Amino acid sequence: MLSFCRWHLLLKLIFTSKELFLDEKSETINSCTKLEIIITMTRRILSLLIAIGSLYGAIALAADDALMARGTYLMESIVACGNCHTPRDPENLGAPLEGMAFAGAFTIKEEGLNAFAPNITMDIETGIGGWTDEEIITAIRDGLRPDGTLIGPPMPSPFYATMSDYDVQSIVAYLRTVTPVKNVVQKSKYTIPLPPNYGPKVESVPEVSKDDLIAYGRYVTHTLGHCTECHTPMSEGHFDFSRLNVGGRVMPNVFGIATTAVSMNITPHLTAGIGEWSDKEIERAITDGVSRNGRELAKIMAYPYYKNINEEDMNAMIAYLRSVPPLSGLE
Ligand code: HEC
Ligand code: HEC
Repeated sequence: MLSFCRWHLLLKLIFTSKELFLDEKSETINSCTKLEIIITMTRRILSLLIAIGSLYGAIALAADDALMARGTYLMESIVACGNCHTPRDPENLGAPLEGMAFAGAFTIKEEGLNAFAPNITMDIETGIGGWTDEEIITAIRDGLRPDGTLIGPPMPSPFYATMSDYDVQSIVAYLRTVTPVKNVVQKSKYTIPLPPNYGPKVESVPEVSKDDLIAYGRYVTHTLGHCTECHTPMSEGHFDFSRLNVGGRVMPNVFGIATTAVSMNITPHLTAGIGEWSDKEIERAITDGVSRNGRELAKIMAYPYYKNINEEDMNAMIAYLRSVPPLSGLE
């Protein structure tokens, strides 16, 4: 105890702060008692610090879980990178090939391009396992590889450019959990000229508030779902946004399956578009691939993924689709 008391004196020198000791009346308490009080207080402060520390740890873990949950939701529903990056089996009605999730080699042939979706699994050699988070984010939103070369269409980077920081980070978190698959994919061939980049480097993008239904619906439809990519015609290598959602893009040899699909008019035009369709009918086309008249749609859209779109996003998307100018396609 004596040596403790000496320690106390030393501590007293260090902690000159009055609050750490007792008030005036403390004179009556001997040094050792004071020391015990200090030790108890220090212990309390320490346990408080530890408690705060573990609270922060728990918050950080909860934040990681939330990011992962968001990434899983996006990847398995509206964003559906797998619809292009997971190869399909032409023998089995275009079902995804087992064990090849995100391993690439889906082909898309359109006028001017014969594109092959690369391997985006975490394989270091043949996938993107060696890329940093920042490099993957730049590939998604800016359409640039780490070596600065442009990622050509139909990779929808010009649409992903407005993806929020949180959403793009959640997608990267999800991709990091993808099983690495060794699969070399051949290079895409373009006969149309490609620009050096799609625009200035994307900086920070905030979340889009759900309070504005149409703005949020546009974010879901245009940014996350890039629905507009397939449903808006191109003119001289650029999207003609004055004809938003009017359809008419010809997509031969879809996913290596011998079908030619033509994207439909999904503007709210009463006869040429989906203006007369009920919300349920629009939803069925998106999630089940069945047109209003019961016709089965070509298996090009990401129906198995779109089935998982939550009600809030589906409602916002339908509200947005109904809000754009109705076009007959003959304008
Ligand atoms: C409509 C089809 C399509 C969708 C959807 C799509 N991609 Fe791609 N992606 C491609 C094609 C095609 C390429 C290759 C283009 C080229 O060769 O220039 C590509 C290239 C890439 C690359 C570059 C890889 C490399 O090694 O060069 C990355 C990374 C990538 N995509 C990630 C994603 C992610 C993540 C998503 C979802 C957020 C996504 N893609 C959605 C078709 C698509
Ligand atoms: C990869 C290209 C592509 C993407 C992405 C895409 N679509 Fe489609 N969509 C098509 C094609 C092609 C058809 C027509 C298929 C057919 O006629 O068999 C179609 C058909 C439709 C139809 C049915 C129209 C009709 O008259 O039967 C609706 C509704 C629709 N798409 C909405 C959407 C929405 C909403 C999204 C985004 C969540 C989306 N599409 C994303 C290519 C695409």
